[in-house]
Amino acid sequence: MPAIDKNFTATNARCRHILTNGNERWAGVECVRDSGAPWVSWVLLVVCFMLAVPASVPETVSPASAPAQVEVETDMPVVALTFDDGPRASTTGRLLDELALREVPATFFLLGHRIPGNEDLVRRMAAEGHQIGVHTYDHVEVTGLSREDFDLQVGKTRSLLLDILGEGEFWLRPPYGITDAAARQWADSPIVLWSVDPEDWKDQDVGRIVAGVVEHVQDGDIILMHDLYGSSVDAAVQIVDALLGKGYCFVTVEDLLARNGIEAQDGVIYRSGRK
Ligand code: NI
Repeated sequence: MPAIDKNFTATNARCRHILTNGNERWAGVECVRDSGAPWVSWVLLVVCFMLAVPASVPETVSPASAPAQVEVETDMPVVALTFDDGPRASTTGRLLDELALREVPATFFLLGHRIPGNEDLVRRMAAEGHQIGVHTYDHVEVTGLSREDFDLQVGKTRSLLLDILGEGEFWLRPPYGITDAAARQWADSPIVLWSVDPEDWKDQDVGRIVAGVVEHVQDGDIILMHDLYGSSVDAAVQIVDALLGKGYCFVTVEDLLARNGIEAQDGVIYRSGRK
């Protein structure tokens, strides 16, 4: 159970209608905060989680009080938050708690060697509407590899994910953002890079990371972060709250491209959701 953040006010809920790829699981759950005694908030939070987590059901209920703001919301800037190098139990689990509170879907590019032992985290990512991709097995450059070695890095990680989840496409983010012609040919999925990189691994300075994103982000951006570090989780939470406050919507990379009319193709590199 995540701790309640007293400063937390906004959620991604108003952005639900722009989600295009099966993220209906976020729909129909309205989490109400700060209404009465503290125990009421806790009860509501528990109810929200019970509703939000297993929801493979399509949208069923809209809050009666929800205003029809579709025209305004259509113009909202939309970004995708992405996390590489996980999963890591201590940090990724907390990040998932915080994203769930805000109903924010993200995209996780996982390292195969970190998956054994963290299967529950992977299942939770999928159940909570996050997109899951591959970041190789051992965090190696995918350039200059033999076909066999490429498959040991990318195919093997996909197989692990398939074993756990049963289905999925698992798009590729190559470590360091580097590919060559062979890797692009063998990728067997779209290749996702990024347009905003706060270099969160560098000094793990939360204030600098937050400013680096919030001051530079634009509609359609793909933001690169790493869920290996507690400081990155702290920064991601502040970034989400700041951007929700500025009217941004968060979607997965897949939804970002689809929303902007981009038909993602295997072997093609996507740095943002802009055409
Ligand atoms: Ni990486």
